[in-house]
Amino acid sequence: MTDPRKKYQEYLWAPFTQMGDLDEEVEPLVIVSGEGSRVTNIDGKEFIDGHGALWLNNVGFGRQEMVDAASEQMQQLSYFPSFAGMANNVALELAERLVDIADRENMSRAFFSSGGSEAVETALKVSRQYWRLKGRDRKYKVIARRQAYHGVTMGALSATGMAMNRQLFEPLVPGFRHIEPPHCYRCPYDVEYPDCGLVCAKELERTIKFEGPDTVAAFIGEPVMGAGGVIVPPDGYWQEIERICRKYDVLLISDEVITGFGRTGDVFGCRHWGVRPDIMVFAKALTSGYLPLGATLTTEDIFEVCLGQHGQGREFRHGTTYSGHPAACATALVNLDITEKEGLVDKARDNGAYMLKRLRELESLPAVGNVNGLGLMARVELTQKDDVPFPPEQLTGLKISRQLMRRGVILRALGDVISLSPPLVITQDEIDTMVDGLGEEIEKLT
Ligand SMILES: Cc1ncc(COP(=O)(O)O)c(C=O)c1O
Repeated sequence: MTDPRKKYQEYLWAPFTQMGDLDEEVEPLVIVSGEGSRVTNIDGKEFIDGHGALWLNNVGFGRQEMVDAASEQMQQLSYFPSFAGMANNVALELAERLVDIADRENMSRAFFSSGGSEAVETALKVSRQYWRLKGRDRKYKVIARRQAYHGVTMGALSATGMAMNRQLFEPLVPGFRHIEPPHCYRCPYDVEYPDCGLVCAKELERTIKFEGPDTVAAFIGEPVMGAGGVIVPPDGYWQEIERICRKYDVLLISDEVITGFGRTGDVFGCRHWGVRPDIMVFAKALTSGYLPLGATLTTEDIFEVCLGQHGQGREFRHGTTYSGHPAACATALVNLDITEKEGLVDKARDNGAYMLKRLRELESLPAVGNVNGLGLMARVELTQKDDVPFPPEQLTGLKISRQLMRRGVILRALGDVISLSPPLVITQDEIDTMVDGLGEEIEKLT
């Protein structure tokens, strides 16, 4: 039998991968099975999955009840659309459940899609339709943040604030603006919290005023920025953003694709700061990755404006084939059951605090510039002395993550930030193995 790794080289076009860099020494990691927080590769070698696959595996691998839910649902009804007055019963049940969970945020409607980018597209289009139907035609601009990651489709990419992701695909969708992120460790304004007066949040107000409040439809942000380097905002930041959005009639979109359903130690990321968004975006942990699913939740006000009264003939002319796929929705329902039954949100909070405490021990190493995190989402930034970044061409973060892989720990390098986002079922022993391994590999740098 051909080694599947050869197929990787010959047939696959993998996302976000410089495939030419993989060679005899650095082979693709081909995983064949998983159990709890561990996965096993094609050679039978076991790894702790310190990144929850792709920030998404909350309930752990190999959950029979998830598999049963999908399989029973496929036998019962493999697929039926939600278009034009049709629906399947499971999508209805999940919509009710999500609205229920997001009660405190005042959400009242759920629109389904196949993943995070699509769920973001939905949020962006809802925002534009909302203001247009309110007669405020010029209110179409969206403000997002540099370093944000909101996906890869053209709308979501236009909101994304990573230059490398954007530049080859320009021109992007018109009407997107970006402000600086709340990144205290590498503050773009070179000021210190709290004396800074939250200048990064205030920039939203200045930008809205500059653009003209009657032209700005929405602000979109991840409660804790993920792919941009696990950036936890300082206290007061989100409250200030919310205040500004309310003042200028700007819809607040919380992109909870990573932070939704427990990762940060609360049910939603925005709950840490008591923020009530107008639109919430979910994917990833909604099914823990067992099947693809995205959801965009809105308030009743937005729903009503977008659809209008009976007889007005308004509809939201948007939707993809797999919106509300029954097997994905059935899996999501069981995923939410497990999350509740096993107290995974509390586990993320408690084990997250433990993981952060252990990671902070690494701050004494000369090559560790910064450690931060919230719940089971954390960053370790590798630097030279006095916070000076390593030269990018040295690929320091990537080398550390490859070394860790050799010792059976999967962590992700976002440049020189090592990011941790393990399944919420991870044990403290497994956290110790990850952190000890990381510390030893970083020590070798000096
Ligand atoms: C915050 C955020 N939004 C949106 C997305 C896009 O989701 P997807 O990759 O499912 O399209 C991601 C993916 O990582 C994300 O982290």
